[in-house]
Amino acid sequence: MQGQGAHTGDGEDQIVVRNVGALAGTVDVPGAKNSVLKLMAATILADGVHELSNVPNIVDVTIMGELLAAIGIESDLAESGRLTLVNRGELTPVAPYELVERIRASVNVLGPLLTRCGRVRLSMPGGDDFGARPIDLHVAGLEAMGAQFKFSHGELEATAERLHGAEISFEFPSVGATENLVTAAVLADGRTTIDNAAREPEVVDLCTYLVAMGAEIEGVGTSRLTVYGVPRDALRAASHETVPDRIQAATYLAALAVSGGELLVRDARPEHMANLLGRFSEMGLELTPVRGGLHAAAAGRMRSIDVQTLPYPGIATDYKPLVITMLSVADDVGIVTENLYPGRFRYVEELSRLGADIRTDGHHAVVRGVPRLSGAPVRAHDIRAGAAMVVAGLAAEGETVISGVRHIDRGYDDLVGRLRSVGAAIERVSSDSSS
Ligand code: EPZ
Repeated sequence: MQGQGAHTGDGEDQIVVRNVGALAGTVDVPGAKNSVLKLMAATILADGVHELSNVPNIVDVTIMGELLAAIGIESDLAESGRLTLVNRGELTPVAPYELVERIRASVNVLGPLLTRCGRVRLSMPGGDDFGARPIDLHVAGLEAMGAQFKFSHGELEATAERLHGAEISFEFPSVGATENLVTAAVLADGRTTIDNAAREPEVVDLCTYLVAMGAEIEGVGTSRLTVYGVPRDALRAASHETVPDRIQAATYLAALAVSGGELLVRDARPEHMANLLGRFSEMGLELTPVRGGLHAAAAGRMRSIDVQTLPYPGIATDYKPLVITMLSVADDVGIVTENLYPGRFRYVEELSRLGADIRTDGHHAVVRGVPRLSGAPVRAHDIRAGAAMVVAGLAAEGETVISGVRHIDRGYDDLVGRLRSVGAAIERVSSDSSS
């Protein structure tokens, strides 16, 4: 895929941040990584020229483009954020290790390839830095639809002449498993129901796109999805605008909370972040939904709150590093409980290097707010932790130098430029220019 110059993440770039006080202006929210990657995978289902708009210029989109190219779908990302994907119907249902190991969302090609081609070979996706991420729910659901799986040498091979409808009930509303099963069910024989389905806005975005392609899905946005399989020739390529990224929107709000000031977060969808915004208001952010986005103001120090992560519409685990960073400079003590990924606290060590007072115990973190952090070199271990380091740098006296920037590039479209445009003292330096 030809992108328009997102950093490849191969260099040794660092981000340097200083606290210079209040932010002011307008920042726009790009399309959601966790939606667009699934939309891209769904193009496997229908031949023709698909067009996705509001596509963020991020490394994960480039990698998913490479994975689709290996499968037989060419893509091209224009500067306008319009991604064109051409499915000529000649597909190789194999997802190679070099690409699968780089992004978790590559598992999303499993459902569409299996239902479209009748077989798939996929390297087993690895975990993230925050722990193992099994795919047992994906596999059990597809088995209930008639697929057969073999696992050997780090690869899974799935076959099914034609998948059939099934009644599936998840123990846990997995985002990825819901997406894989819905896309698989679109071309299956008969009716599939998924109970306790994930309801994230990105899942809704995928279903909306599938419906535009000709799929028949009921219950979109609820925890019970019903998919009526259609014949292959009932599906056609479609155009779709990617839903704005609620995690990026939250990142700009967190930056504002620790810096003070006023921002218009353009294209934020308050209805997709209602619980989080309620909690941010309790902390002291003044939030007003406006036409086309969200107005936010922060005056003075935030107040601490207790938070637990839950599947949507609860507070997403991906917000948590941002919330912990906000709490680390808030007034009083906050307790954060992680219910999705127990190991997802590694960035706490980095925040402690900046002077944060955080104790973790199993699923819990106790955060005692300090008036200010103190700049130091820190490392980003994953995308969200990386964004949290940037926010922490805005809350710190002196200079914070963040390495591991390639993680931020996976999911953030020009975080540095966007924060600079609203007055933050932040720059990206390559190892050459910093030496
Ligand atoms: C998606 O991952 C997101 N990734 C994650 O964002 C996000 O943290 C997560 O949803 C939860 O909101 C993408 O969309 C690419 P899950 P996904 O299946 O689909 C367990 C980011 O930074 N589980 O809902 O993999 C699993 O171990 C990333 O952008 C099983 O046990 O999440 C976890 O504890 C990080 N078996 C929980 O469910 C399964 O078969 C949630 O997983 C599947 C999941």
